This record gives sequence, structure tokens and C-alpha cells, in this order.
Amino acid sequence: MGAGISRRSLLAGGAALPVAGAAAAALAAPARAVPAQDLPAHAVPAQAAPARAGTGDAVEPFHGAHQAGIATTPQAHAVFLGFDLLPGTGKEAVVRMMQLLTDDARRLTQGRPALADTEPELAVSPARLTVTFGFGPGLFATAGVTSPVRALPAFETDRLQDRWSGGDLLVQLCADDPMTVAHALRMIVKDARAFATVRWSQRGFRRAAGTQAPGTTQRNLMGQLDGTVNPSNLDRSVWLSDGPEGMRGGTTMVLRRIRMKLEQWDAADRSAREFAIGRRLDTGAPLTGRDERDEPDFDRLNQLGFPVIPEFAHIRRARAADAGQRILRRPYNYDEAVGADGAADSGLIFVSYQADIDRQFVPVQRRLAEGDLMNEWITPIGSAVFAIPPGCTPEGWIGDRLLAA
Ligand code: HEM
Repeated sequence: MGAGISRRSLLAGGAALPVAGAAAAALAAPARAVPAQDLPAHAVPAQAAPARAGTGDAVEPFHGAHQAGIATTPQAHAVFLGFDLLPGTGKEAVVRMMQLLTDDARRLTQGRPALADTEPELAVSPARLTVTFGFGPGLFATAGVTSPVRALPAFETDRLQDRWSGGDLLVQLCADDPMTVAHALRMIVKDARAFATVRWSQRGFRRAAGTQAPGTTQRNLMGQLDGTVNPSNLDRSVWLSDGPEGMRGGTTMVLRRIRMKLEQWDAADRSAREFAIGRRLDTGAPLTGRDERDEPDFDRLNQLGFPVIPEFAHIRRARAADAGQRILRRPYNYDEAVGADGAADSGLIFVSYQADIDRQFVPVQRRLAEGDLMNEWITPIGSAVFAIPPGCTPEGWIGDRLLAA
């Protein structure tokens, strides 16, 4: 692309204009390494690049039957972006938007600058970047396609705010480096601008890459090991194998922003905290076991005849009767600016993937809303659902089988 063609001129005219010229040609082309002559002159290193550290070089594949960022071992940093389509954006514009955003994702995840990348040097360390797209009910309505997802029913414990809820398009960006996430976010937002506005953005984090041995369960900001029980067979509980052809290999996502009342949690002693969850804080073992992976014994009674794992302990209420119906939880912590009085604005960006929201997520959330000792300290303040289309081929784009018809 010539240095004189700006990103702005590429997209000028907004959603009504097709992606023109070099951009369109590039969109049609399969993923490949960008030859140096394709980069703006200032992006070509003047001398051989110095040896790079391992974390930055690590790459997650973009193409495949499923989108990356779901079964992928969670990266340390995440941003979730919820977009609203601009009024008047029709199906053709949605298709162009997804072609453009898929092209960005295909390049950036492989450590290559996006088309007309304004900071190409920031693209060279992908740090396991994944870019995952989801479609909300509004996008399906715009495209005239039956939506595989619908808004969740209301739950008694919900205190939902519009500013954290809903959205037509989801973009989930995860990487082991926050600079990589920031750059990918900027590129995606710029390219989406002609079609959609940002409704919300939510930043989350886990332990920095390399802090703990691979496979270690993360802790949330309440100090609990969070993520012990997840489905072992994703073909059974996460990936769609029937229903509309364009969704096969895809899944659905529930995103809930859940605020933690950490000041009140501070006041709870250790046994009250362990009672609330049904697991020990140090090892994460169930109250009836010794190791994190021990199966909880929900029938065991203490000397007084009460269940060792309380009736309203989180893990008892959340347990799926059929292990094949488990949801895949991939949460991130959030910790925003501390208030002038020192109060925390912290919590969990709870993210779950499941083949069927009504069958798998809703019954769990309903039981938790009806009675979970944890409700004393947590409040859902945001909620959104998205259909996550399957992955795509090097020639395709995310959502192609759903929207191209
Ligand atoms: C801030 C909110 C939440 C916190 C702090 C939290 C924390 C935890 C912890 C510490 C565990 C035990 C370890 C593990 O298996 O990961 C757990 C298990 C679980 N949680 Fe949550 N959770 C929250 C919200 C939710 C929500 C909204 C749902 C779904 C509606 C949910 C569903 C589950 C499930 C399915 C399990 C596994 C239960 C089993 O043992 O089968 N959690 N959670």
C-alpha cells in the first residue's frame, strides 16, 4: 500500500463504501508473511532485529474449525469490547466489517502489522494474541438471520447497568503482553469505526505469564482458586455440532461483569469464606478432600449431622447434574481505580462458553441467584450474550458461513 493512502481514506464514507483497492485485494488474499516491501518504509527495521524474548514470540493459530481464544490456555491480559452497529448499517456492511476485522485479526495474531497499521512496530510481538468475535442478537436481526442466542432472563440478584450490558458485536482480545492487547484493540476499534460504536470495553487480567507453573489454576481477587472444575470434553459441552450449518464448530458466550464487595469480604473469617465456596482457600481442595482435584463428597455429614459442604455453598449450587453439560469458564479479574475513600472497584469478568445457554448456563445461574452463600459478596452488574461463529479458512472470514448466504 502506498504511503499516501491513509487508513481514514480507506474507510472514508463509512459503512456505505466497499473496502477498496489494495485493501480489498489484501482481504481476498490468504494469510502470508508480509514482505518487507509491503510495509511502510519506516516500519522496515534498519538493521537485523535483536534476539527476542520467548513470551513475545509465541503465536496462537488463527485459522481452524474453532475460533481461538476459547480452548486456548488463558493469556494474562484481556480486553472485551462490545460494539453497537451504527444506525442504517445493513447486512452488506456487516459482511464488509467482518472481512476487514478478520483480516486484522489474521495478521495481528501472527505478529504481522494490520493493513495500513499506524504503529507496525507494535505488531511484531504477538505474545499468543487471540482475537475472538461474537455476534449479539442485534447483529443477527440486522443481517436477517435467525439468532442462535437471546438475552438472558432476569435473575433476582442482578443489578445490571446498561453501560456493561448488551452489544451487537463482541471482540475478545487476549495476549500475554498488555502492549500487544492495546495495539490490537486500537487497530480493531479504528477499523470498526465506520460500522459500529463502542458500547463498552472491559479489561481483565490474570497472573503474568511465567509467574506460575503451566496448568496452575488462577486465583481471583477474593483469593480463591478459580477454574478448577471445567469440562473435559469440549466437543460435548462447548462446540456446536448441530443446528444452523453456519454455527457448527462455533459456540455461545455469556459475559457477566460481577462486582466483588471486597470490604465486606475482608470482614469474613477464613472458615466463613471456605464455607461460602465449599473449598479450602489454600489448596482449593473441596472441604471433604485434600487436593484441589479431589471430587467433592456432597453427601458427607459432620459430627452434628450437617453437610460438610453446606447446602448453599457455591460449588454445590453451581454443579451441573450431568458432567457433560458443564460450562467452560474462562474468567478474568478486573481492578479499576480505587475510590477517594480507598474503596475497591474490583471483581470478575465472568466468561463462559457452552453449546446451549438455556440448557447449560441458565439453570446454574438460576440456582446461584436463588441461593448461593457467595451472593453476600458478589453482585452482577453487567450481562451480555453472543453467538461465537466457528473459525475460518485462510480464504474465509469469521461469520462467512452464517452471513454470506
Ligand atoms: C464473582 C463471581 C464468582 C466467583 C468469585 C466464583 C468463584 C468460584 C470458585 C472459587 C469456584 C471453585 C473452583 C472451581 O471449580 O473453579 C467456582 C466454581 C464454579 N462456579 Fe463460580 N464464581 C463466580 C460466579 C459464577 C457464576 C456467575 C457462575 C455461573 C452462572 C459460576 C459457575 C461455577 C461453576 C459451574 C463452578 C464449578 C462447580 C463444580 O464444582 O461443578 N460461578 N466458582
